[in-house]
Amino acid sequence: MSVSRRVIGSEQVVRASRGGRRFIEVPPGGIVTVQARETAARMDIALRDGPLDRPQTPAADGAAALYRVLYRRSPKWMPPKPPAGRSPTRFRRLAVIGAGGVGGNLAQLAAARDMSGEIVIVDVVPGLADSMALDLNHSAGATRSKCLVSGSVDASAAADADVVVVTAGRARSPGMSRADLLAVNRRTIRALGEKIRAASPNAVVIVVSNPLDEMTAEMLWSTEFPRERVMGMAGTLDSARFRTELARAARVGIDEVEAMVVGSHGEEMTPLISLARIRGLPADRFLDGGEIAGCVERTVSAGARVVALRRTASASIAPAHAILELLEHMRGARVGPVPATVRLAGEYGIEGVPLGVPCLLGPNGLIEIAELSIDASERAKLLNAAEAVRARIGN
Ligand code: LAC
Repeated sequence: MSVSRRVIGSEQVVRASRGGRRFIEVPPGGIVTVQARETAARMDIALRDGPLDRPQTPAADGAAALYRVLYRRSPKWMPPKPPAGRSPTRFRRLAVIGAGGVGGNLAQLAAARDMSGEIVIVDVVPGLADSMALDLNHSAGATRSKCLVSGSVDASAAADADVVVVTAGRARSPGMSRADLLAVNRRTIRALGEKIRAASPNAVVIVVSNPLDEMTAEMLWSTEFPRERVMGMAGTLDSARFRTELARAARVGIDEVEAMVVGSHGEEMTPLISLARIRGLPADRFLDGGEIAGCVERTVSAGARVVALRRTASASIAPAHAILELLEHMRGARVGPVPATVRLAGEYGIEGVPLGVPCLLGPNGLIEIAELSIDASERAKLLNAAEAVRARIGN
């Protein structure tokens, strides 16, 4: 009969002691024999309940490859050194406002990753946030996540949060543009912004509600937070979609593609074609102009295509993963520039309007905007996006 690896016997304790170790990790559900306990006490070996936190190095994923490409292209911009071998930080309290598809998926991903001590879900629909919290707490029995989830109908319950993700508001119906949601969602964001300001005055706010750029502006006004602590999530989603399209068109693995989309989360989206890399080479080595234009078109229309198919809701899975990417950058699990929508103060020649640009993020939000040497047509597109957003926010 083979002995399960979850049973810790005295031989294991003796081996640990000979190896100079001071403790043994007992995996969840593990059994320590009586003899092993006695031996451990005699040999002064501690028995610690696992899983134990271990230092993790930030993921060396595609972001690192893009970081190298961007750095080479823009010698004027000196990126701070990525933290080497430092464990990602854990949020203390993450608030997710809006328990629809995006909020629900995000809460689930964040809880399973155990990236926060607590998650507070808020939704005005009675019972929705509470039921989701209960369901997620039950799932911790399987995932072993230590994160505690609670629900509320009132955003004020999400007090003293260090990050507040706002997914509340109406989603598009088929045929609607994101801008069509402006009037209705503006009121929601304004009310929420005032509550966040009172309840969590030191929080970083991530806006997800559409129209994204305009709602980020509204959140900046209503919270009166500095620009470092209010950002919109759009570029990580649009970049994910662009990478997917490029990988499929070039018939390569998704991990062989790096690309970033900046600008507005709308018709004026700016995919940075000049920086896109496939297997480390410029994308136009693999795809002709028409194929790249097709990838751009499918990226810009991606959200609308999901709405047209689902009819009653917009995309929720990729957006949740895209928010998670921002959170991972904030807590240091990922490094390098990542697109986020922040209010520009002269960067890229743009002043006073929120727009998606490559950012370095930390636990307190924006650290620095990476000014890259993008090509002239991309720069023109970015300026055009800024003017379109400015006209819509009336600034
Ligand atoms: C999208 C919506 C969420 O792009 O803006 O899918």
